[in-house]
Amino acid sequence: MIKGKPFVKWAGGKRQIIDKLLKCAPDEFNTYYEPFVGGGAFLFELSPKNAVINDYNKELMNVYECIKDSDKFDKMCKELNNHEANHSEEYYYKIRNLDRDKNKFNKLADYKRAARTIYLNKACFNGLYRVNSKNEFNVPFGKKSKVNTYEGQNLGIICGYLNYNNIKLLSTDFEEAVKDAKKGDFIYFDPPYDSDTSTFNSYTEDGFGKEEQKRLSRVYKKLADKGCYVMLSNHNTKLVNELYKEFNINVIEAKRNINSNGAKRGKVEEVIITNYKNNKVFDE
Ligand SMILES: C[S@@+](CC[C@H](N)C(=O)[O-])C[C@H]1O[C@@H](n2cnc3c(N)ncnc32)[C@H](O)[C@@H]1O
Repeated sequence: MIKGKPFVKWAGGKRQIIDKLLKCAPDEFNTYYEPFVGGGAFLFELSPKNAVINDYNKELMNVYECIKDSDKFDKMCKELNNHEANHSEEYYYKIRNLDRDKNKFNKLADYKRAARTIYLNKACFNGLYRVNSKNEFNVPFGKKSKVNTYEGQNLGIICGYLNYNNIKLLSTDFEEAVKDAKKGDFIYFDPPYDSDTSTFNSYTEDGFGKEEQKRLSRVYKKLADKGCYVMLSNHNTKLVNELYKEFNINVIEAKRNINSNGAKRGKVEEVIITNYKNNKVFDE
C-alpha cells in the first residue's frame, strides 16, 4: 500500500520521530483515535482501517473533509490549479486577505476555503499556520517563485485512504473527541507542547496552557483505566514528568525547526509516554 504524507507543513509535525512512535505503538488495537491530528504524519504512517481523527482547527479539518468528499475534492483540485497558475506575491496577499471580511469569508464554498488553506501553507514563509487574535491568517509571503500544492500523487493517495477506510472526522475539543473510545482502542495524543520556559505554543486562536496540560492528563488516566492503549508525546518538561509519573516515560531526542528564530532551532528532548509495555521500545 502506498502511504500518504502530510498535505500541509504543521507546527509540531511528527515526521522526525515517526520511527520511535511506531516502536511505541501497540501491535494490535481496534479503533485508532488521534485527537490533535495536525498534519497527520503518524496517522498516514499507521494508516489504520478504523479511525477517529480530530483537530480544533476548523480550517484544517475542512481540508480533510474536502479531500474525503469526491465532488468537493475535484473542485478543490481545480482551485489548486488556479492558485498555482496565478501564484505571485500580489496574488498571495489577495488570497490571504480573504479572511479579513468574515461575512464574505464564511460564505465561501468549503472547497475554496480548503484550497486556500493548502495554497497559503505552501506559499507562506516557513510553512507555518498562524492567525492573529481576530483569527486572520498573518504569515508573510514565502518568496517562492513556484508552489507545488499537490506534491505529486499525495492528495490522491490521501483521498483514497480516507474513502476506502472507516475514518471519522471531527473538529472539537480533544476530550469530546475521545469520549466514545473503548477497551482495546488506541489513542495517540500529540498536544501543543508544554515548555519549562515560554516558547511558541499557540496554534489556534486559543492557547494551550498548563491547565490544559493538566486536563489532558486526567483524560489520559480515564482512558487508561478503561483499558485503552494510550500514547502521548510532549516536551520533556517538569510538569509532564510530574503528571505522568505513574506511566512509562521514554525520553528521546528530536530535531525542531519550526521556530523562525534560528538560535532556537536544534535538538530538544521529547518524551513518548505509554500506559502499556512494548518490548520493541528502544532495543536498538
Ligand atoms: C502539536 S500539534 C499536532 C501535530 C501533529 N501531530 C502533526 O504531526 O502535525 C497540536 C494540534 O492541536 C490542536 N489543538 C489545540 N488545542 C486543541 C484542543 N483543545 N482540542 C483539540 N485540538 C487542539 C492544534 O490545532 C494543533 O493542530
